Amino acid sequence: MSYLEATNDLYKEAALTPDVGLCCTTNPIWQFPGLSVPRIMQEMNYGCGSTVSAQDLVNNPKVLYVGVGGGMELLQFAYFSRQKGGVTGVDVVDEMLEASRKNLLEAENENEWFKKEYIELLNGSALELPIEDESIDVAAQNCLFNIFKAEDLKKAIAEMYRVLKPNGRLVMSDPICEQPMNDTLRNDDRLRALCLSGSIPLKHYIKTLTDAGFGTIEVRARRSYRVLSPNHYPTEELVHIESVEIAAIKDPMPADGPCVFTGKTAIYFGEEEYLDDGKGHVLLQNQPLAVCDKTAAALADTSDEIFISESTWHYNGGGCC
Ligand SMILES: C[S@@+](CC[C@H](N)C(=O)[O-])C[C@H]1O[C@@H](n2cnc3c(N)ncnc32)[C@H](O)[C@@H]1O
Repeated sequence: MSYLEATNDLYKEAALTPDVGLCCTTNPIWQFPGLSVPRIMQEMNYGCGSTVSAQDLVNNPKVLYVGVGGGMELLQFAYFSRQKGGVTGVDVVDEMLEASRKNLLEAENENEWFKKEYIELLNGSALELPIEDESIDVAAQNCLFNIFKAEDLKKAIAEMYRVLKPNGRLVMSDPICEQPMNDTLRNDDRLRALCLSGSIPLKHYIKTLTDAGFGTIEVRARRSYRVLSPNHYPTEELVHIESVEIAAIKDPMPADGPCVFTGKTAIYFGEEEYLDDGKGHVLLQNQPLAVCDKTAAALADTSDEIFISESTWHYNGGGCC
């Protein structure tokens, strides 16, 4: 059985019998005014963060959500898009689509504003999306891509890139791991499917996104997720897994390489009123400017009167590029 088949089997089980501890996160479930998230959706929250941000969801975007789980984020996206077929959910596991469909009926009972027609559910794989080219404004996946091995991860990201409109965005929440993992962990299909042994370092993740063509990357959140300890898993050392929230924007690739925002800030502290680097960045004296890592490095070389902060791993727009 391939790891993809093992993954399908695991999520078939998780669709038929909700597994409250599967994935799960420390951040609260988003509550918005007038939104009631049915209990069953909360129990089937198999994500590791959130992909729903109001800032991405202005002007009735067409949303694609891949790997539907219990449907909670489909409902949260529909809260913003509120149009027939405004959100399309794709999943490869029929039982998960069925569970999601049932949970959305429950959501219709609990939410006056919500109509099930707002969400279309399709059977299909992240590796071959049943979606037209350049038809989507916001594409999302939560806790799915980390399961994929390198070649499949590339395919899944290329598929998201293909279906997004120019300047559309891929929003994701996924585990990452900065430590090497041994082959026993890596080759354990069940642990991989459980989002525990497939994750890769953030730099590699980001490179896969920029190699696919995404010109702007925003790291919006980063937090501890799990540990794999020797007393519970086949490892001799404690392995720390984190989860990140990232937006990859289908902006044209800048000539000097992608803009990757990790939450760095530049502050000019010289004697002048401002510093202009001649490349579109004007730093007012003692005013913060959010900068991408590329600009942070260039500014550090330009002047020794610019303070560059460390990455906060929390970036929400308004930056230099
Ligand atoms: C860890 S769960 C996350 C569910 C949901 N995103 C959430 O946050 O609750 C992974 C989801 O991806 C689906 N899935 C697994 N392999 C898939 C594939 N190749 N293509 C699309 N969906 C897939 C599973 O059925 C499941 O719904």
